[in-house]
Amino acid sequence: MSHPPSSPLTLIATVSFGLEAVVKRELLALGFEQVRAAEGKVEFTATAADIPRANLWLRSADRVLLKMGEDTAVTFDELFQQTKALPWEKWIPADGQFNVQAKTVKSTLGSVRACQSIVKKAVAERLMAAYGVDWLAETGVPYTVQVALLKDVATLTIDTSGAGLHLRGYREEAGDAPLRETLAAALVQLSFWNPERLLIDPMCGSGTILIEAALLARNMAPGLNRRFASEEWTAVPTAAWTEARRAARQAIRHEGTLQLRGYDRDPAAIEASQNNAANARVADDIVFAQKDVRDLWIDQQYGILISQLPYAERTADFSYLNEIYLAFDQTFKKKQGWSLYFLTADKQFPNYFKRTNPDRVRKLYNGLVEVNYYQYYGEKPQI
Ligand SMILES: C[S@@+](CC[C@H](N)C(=O)[O-])C[C@H]1O[C@@H](n2cnc3c(N)ncnc32)[C@H](O)[C@@H]1O
Repeated sequence: MSHPPSSPLTLIATVSFGLEAVVKRELLALGFEQVRAAEGKVEFTATAADIPRANLWLRSADRVLLKMGEDTAVTFDELFQQTKALPWEKWIPADGQFNVQAKTVKSTLGSVRACQSIVKKAVAERLMAAYGVDWLAETGVPYTVQVALLKDVATLTIDTSGAGLHLRGYREEAGDAPLRETLAAALVQLSFWNPERLLIDPMCGSGTILIEAALLARNMAPGLNRRFASEEWTAVPTAAWTEARRAARQAIRHEGTLQLRGYDRDPAAIEASQNNAANARVADDIVFAQKDVRDLWIDQQYGILISQLPYAERTADFSYLNEIYLAFDQTFKKKQGWSLYFLTADKQFPNYFKRTNPDRVRKLYNGLVEVNYYQYYGEKPQI
């Protein structure tokens, strides 16, 4: 079993709907080539030695998958033959454990369970033939094979990430309505914020948006403090992981002061934010304080606000939310130098926050929940 670490392969960064362009930009900034965005994914050309770098550094992608092959399959026999024709033995050793996950959308082969067992059987047959055995022990390192059928095209991949990339390892206390770290990183990257500018999140919950901003500003790889499935793979050289981690530690920008402020009315949220920021090693970069948004007083002329608003679950909650929206309106009505970004599932928000119409509204997903990102652009600071 071997795979030359330098031969080209295709990796797929899976992406939550609406964030494809953000992840494409991240990949281009990391120096990857032939970066192609499609709905829900961004494909790029890489080598096995790049698998660590992509996993460690991607901020807004969900996972990194290794693409094994892609072809039309409208019968189980086609799916079986195509799967069996792929060189699984280059990646999965003789004792490798492998489970198969399937999903199928708008395809003739509509049964997830049937697709799963066909692919499992085809990969097993391929491996048995390649290793000259008639039985696979599956006692070794785990591999997750995925088959995704979309409009009769089957894409076969192996997951290199393991746990989703939003799990950075810093967030212990998730609060009420946790924001995915990957989405938080995207919200920051979609804003006008840069490390020179003031950023506040007045309803910061567990602090995710500010922590992700600090990681960006410090050029800290978001995956530096966690492990990945492909760290155990023999086909990805251990030296590539060691080197990618060393380079990531070296890349951290220590100089400069950041202006990041987080508030929440709930003291437990503030405590959680402080703990999470400490876990992420950015505690010194963010000031957290307990404060109700109705008491928010802004004296700076210019700044950026990014916040995920609370959701209403009961009718009684709506009047409370409206009060908060009006409080934001009062505070920022005359603050034309502030760019404001609100994430919420409540489509009524722009009817209450009336500074102007939003300059842009992006439809995004926080996990499975559809949300809108309302963007209000402020005047540029005068230098
Ligand atoms: C959707 S959560 C934010 C989650 C956050 N983005 C995170 O990453 O954990 C909304 C937050 O608003 C806070 N909140 C609700 N009403 C508030 C108010 N009047 N003033 C300040 N914070 C408030 C809640 O305590 C909650 O933490």
